[in-house]
Amino acid sequence: MRDKHYLMVPGPTPVPPAVAAAMSRPVIGHRTEDFAQINRQITEKLQKIFQTENDVFVFTNSGTGAMEAAVANTVSPGDTVLALITGNFGERFAKIARAYGAKVMEINFEWGSDVDLKVVEEKLAEHPEIKVVLATQNETSTGVTNNIAGIGALVAKTPALLLVDGVSGVGAIEIKADEWGVDLLCTASQKALMLPPGLSMLSVSAKAWEVVKNNRSPRFYFSLPAQKKAYEKWNTAYTPAVSLFFGLDAALDLILAEGLEQVYARHALLAKAVRNAVRSLGLKLLVEDRCASNALTGVWGPEETDVDGLRKVIKQQYGVTFAGGQGILKGKIFRIAHMGFADKMDVMIAVSALEMALAQAGCSVELGAGTRAAQEVFLGRAE
Ligand SMILES: Cc1ncc(COP(=O)(O)O)c(C=O)c1O
Repeated sequence: MRDKHYLMVPGPTPVPPAVAAAMSRPVIGHRTEDFAQINRQITEKLQKIFQTENDVFVFTNSGTGAMEAAVANTVSPGDTVLALITGNFGERFAKIARAYGAKVMEINFEWGSDVDLKVVEEKLAEHPEIKVVLATQNETSTGVTNNIAGIGALVAKTPALLLVDGVSGVGAIEIKADEWGVDLLCTASQKALMLPPGLSMLSVSAKAWEVVKNNRSPRFYFSLPAQKKAYEKWNTAYTPAVSLFFGLDAALDLILAEGLEQVYARHALLAKAVRNAVRSLGLKLLVEDRCASNALTGVWGPEETDVDGLRKVIKQQYGVTFAGGQGILKGKIFRIAHMGFADKMDVMIAVSALEMALAQAGCSVELGAGTRAAQEVFLGRAE
């Protein structure tokens, strides 16, 4: 059936019916009381999810826009920036800082591993000139979750600001912006927040505002002072994607109604089921359990099998879309997302499709081994 799809890529993710319905409301003018009221509600709800009392702004652009806004407002040309890189999106953050004239000091961790706090501690001690530290909460290219609390504790001992890319983590994996010392936290609509692409969100700490005010980088659309001024009246500096704001308000309601703890526990359960299933099918996980993401799982392709060909079969014959590898992992891994509007049966469908495609590709696979392993997790029978 042509219209039946199971979208299991790490963004965009499926949109719940209540969110789709909210987005179909008639558009309203954005310089109105009605919009101001919605924008205020959205801000308060985002503060709960970010666990912050800081300002939170919504921009009409994809997640990279929030990352650029974070950098453009805190990095002046010539500043030393420490980039903690665990994959493709860590690299992107470093590239943005370089584009704004920073002297970027990179620490590259092996793809599939997380940030080693000891290395960060040493680097910060050796280089007191570091002004900004860039980190990724959830590295989508590998499926690694970094220890932001640990990184935050180290950065908090220095005058540096901590900028965190939480694009694929926020809403799926806990983050406590204030308690963990995250100065600027970025995220986007199309991942765990269950919306189509088009919005990004950014929180800004009091410590960061001092830097923002004196920043020498050029900025216009991404000017945080301009956005803050507009937000005094619960407006946005430029025309917002009003329909997406309606959807965001509804999506945040769904998250808060389920409860943050429950949302995180659901993601952890789905991740555990996928990992159990993958292992039972004799495939290798890219990331060890200790730092494995609850939002998506990276899997090495079976030996002597065209992994992108396998994904093609899964998509064309079963309607299930997995993501491929990025950068150095292109053609070597596939990624199964289980974030946002995802539940147990999504995992069952994904694993079942994977089993069939493996069998079709001639891999030695015991049909039912993966689905059974996932079921055991859901029934509370797995360790
Ligand atoms: C961790 C991470 N950072 C940044 C981005 C970039 O976001 P966007 O594609 O919305 O610009 C993504 C998108 O996949 C991501 O997963």
